[in-house]
Amino acid sequence: MKKMALFGGAFDPIHSGHLAMAQRLAETLSLDSVLLMPSFVPPHKIRESMADGAHRLEMCRLAIEGQPLLQVSDMELRRGGASFTIDTLEELHRLYPDTEWYLITGADVFCTLRTWHRFADVARLAVLCTVARCGTDTAALTDYAARLQADGYRCYVDTQPVQTVSSTEIRVRAAAGKPLGGLVPSCVEAYIKQYGLYQHAAAMLTQTKDEQYTEIIRARLGDSRFQHSLCVAQEARRLAQKYGADADKAYTAGLLHDIMKDTPPQAQLQILQEFAILLDGVEKTNPTLWHARTGAAFLQHILGVDDAEILDAVRYHTTGRVGMSLLEKVLFVADFTSADRTYNDVDVMRRLADESLEAAMEYGVVYTIHDLLNRGVAIHPDTVMVYNELVLSGQQEGIQHEK
Ligand SMILES: [Fe+2]
Ligand SMILES: [Fe+2]
Repeated sequence: MKKMALFGGAFDPIHSGHLAMAQRLAETLSLDSVLLMPSFVPPHKIRESMADGAHRLEMCRLAIEGQPLLQVSDMELRRGGASFTIDTLEELHRLYPDTEWYLITGADVFCTLRTWHRFADVARLAVLCTVARCGTDTAALTDYAARLQADGYRCYVDTQPVQTVSSTEIRVRAAAGKPLGGLVPSCVEAYIKQYGLYQHAAAMLTQTKDEQYTEIIRARLGDSRFQHSLCVAQEARRLAQKYGADADKAYTAGLLHDIMKDTPPQAQLQILQEFAILLDGVEKTNPTLWHARTGAAFLQHILGVDDAEILDAVRYHTTGRVGMSLLEKVLFVADFTSADRTYNDVDVMRRLADESLEAAMEYGVVYTIHDLLNRGVAIHPDTVMVYNELVLSGQQEGIQHEK
């Protein structure tokens, strides 16, 4: 039986770190070949500084010259559209029967494998492999691998670290006209120069966190959801300024609140499992509630967002809860009043949002409850509780006015 590995990635550009990993695993696992496969990136998700697929492919071809164990495949570029690794592995199994497949991922990506689309199928079709990198936490890698193995998945971690190379650094150096000596093979360096690739990359050095988050949600969301997120961010900032919440946090929370909304339920379940999040009875029956839980977990554990207020605002943006913070209320309301919203009562809701955050909250909660009743869907207890809280505090105020 032949042994082959799939090594996918943007390869923007391919660099010495990729080549070292591929070589190392080819040798230690006695692979017959490693298939480098540049991923397709849909036009609207391309970063300004990104090289197009044909260039990324050509750089891979140049980089492997004289290395018989390495091959390049344009399968995902040819297929176009959003490619999942499972689609590629299934096609490879069809094209190369009687082959044992390995999947090579970067050390950082390896620790998110369980969140991948149809992870269990990916793991069934390939042995999951990675190589530690200089300066990274080898223990985290081996722990993750041990947990995968305990669950019956096949994996392999090479703990002898390879050189750490950053594609971002390469792009930024190329933009500044600096030499790339050692970071990419010299033929790739000459190619980058010849075609003037990465000329816009310098701007990335000055990218703010919100700009980075914007790139991330652009890649994770469909077009209309991406536009919605931008509109909610702007609306949340406006409401925060009006009601005295932190406007910067409100903008960030707005950008990120629906980050998992376009992720298939199966992949969201993997995240829930990965981060040991238990759903309550109502959540279990209603997958549209999951994105708030998985979104907050993804932000905290994968994007490294450590601001508890932002995490809570995302977590409770769909259900609400008793005792919501100002920022939580701002995001909850902004999700109803953002510029892209067109439902029947949106003008009423916008007027209320300009008069009183509490009144708009109550309107939003009532709207949510009506919608759930109409659809015969269970109402989350947090939503019932916040409804009661808002109504009772309104009555309380009324009584005080009468006095
Ligand atoms: Fe949402
Ligand atoms: Fe939303």
